[in-house]
Amino acid sequence: MLKVFVPKERAEGETRVAATPETVKRLVKEGLSLFVETGAGAAANLLDAAYTEAGATIVPESGLKEAYGTADVVLKVASPSPEEAGLIKEGALLVGFASAYKNKDAIRILRDRKVNFAAMELIPRISRAQSMDALSSQASIGGYKAVLLAASHLDKYFPLLMTAAGTIQPARVVVMGAGVAGLQAIATARRLGAIVEVSDVRPAVKEQVESLGGRFIEVDLGESGEGQGGYAKELTKEQLAKQQAVVRERVVAADVVITTALVPGRPAPRLITADMVQEMRAGAVIVDMAVEQGGNCELSEMNKTVVKEGVTIIGHPNLPATLPLDASLMYARNVQTLLLHFLKDGAINYDFGDEITAGAVLTYQGEIRHAPTAELVG
Ligand code: NAI
Repeated sequence: MLKVFVPKERAEGETRVAATPETVKRLVKEGLSLFVETGAGAAANLLDAAYTEAGATIVPESGLKEAYGTADVVLKVASPSPEEAGLIKEGALLVGFASAYKNKDAIRILRDRKVNFAAMELIPRISRAQSMDALSSQASIGGYKAVLLAASHLDKYFPLLMTAAGTIQPARVVVMGAGVAGLQAIATARRLGAIVEVSDVRPAVKEQVESLGGRFIEVDLGESGEGQGGYAKELTKEQLAKQQAVVRERVVAADVVITTALVPGRPAPRLITADMVQEMRAGAVIVDMAVEQGGNCELSEMNKTVVKEGVTIIGHPNLPATLPLDASLMYARNVQTLLLHFLKDGAINYDFGDEITAGAVLTYQGEIRHAPTAELVG
């Protein structure tokens, strides 16, 4: 019987867990043997007793080494630390986010120990894999929370209000980047009654933005900003300057700016310069969701809320972790679907003819299969 271990996440600020009582129950039903570290779900208010009831065995902290060393499958959220990577047995399957750019040492250890690592962010964004798509499930939570954070830091209402004490104008929100996070930010800000304007370099998103009640800011880049796989491509210096010139007047008139713009494998594009911030009104709020990739705003600081030129700039690197229960429920379902995809006749089956497996498996039998990561870790 395959042994599956779910450790407690130890990365700073990580509150999520890779399996919930719901997914444990399902995996047990599929014939797997589930071991959950004590307190693994506590930060998400999922208690040991619920895991036990679902059919898992609770592992005390003192049993951590043994649990890692004997598990055939390890389910995680954040990339393992080098210490954790060193505990996983050879040939085991590890499922979780790799975040290779900041975890090179751990990736090397996993490769050398011949751990097979299925990285959640490498699952192809194809319709068949939608129920495994943790980038989407988590980005959507982030987009929602970014708007709530902005609203709670803002010095004014979001909606238009007509009261006996006069009319209150609605907040003006600019969303930069209308991918999964951006679209959820638009929907949330609209529900709160704000006027929402949106910039993206992929022309295809205009219709989606408008269907959510946002106004699309048109920028003539001379060509489509869409690159491979439906993602954005990096703009040239001239294109970026052009975009900044058009977006600038909307940004300086905004009460709130939410930035989510990313380009795969590249630092986040610098969309909000220091002088734009200077021109914004005191009391405005920027939430920079790209802060971990270097930030869309020149003045944002990692893991900090700062006030610069009177503007509050929020640089939280892990917004999904601020909604740990739903983030875990969704993430754990994504993980469950991927794990069941690998499971054939009671064993883990690596069929590299399958697009999902071929895309997701980062390290396999001592090799790094994903070329950009292989180059990155050397
Ligand atoms: P992402 O997180 O890589 O980027 C966020 C957004 O930033 C994107 O919309 C991108 O176009 C935009 N951006 C990049 N540079 C910019 C700039 N200079 N100015 C303004 N915006 C900029 O993207 P995400 O959210 O992961 O998804 C992107 C694409 O993947 C979308 O086309 C989405 O429809 C597609 N997708 C497909 C899925 C499927 O078919 N199963 C599932 C999820 C997403």
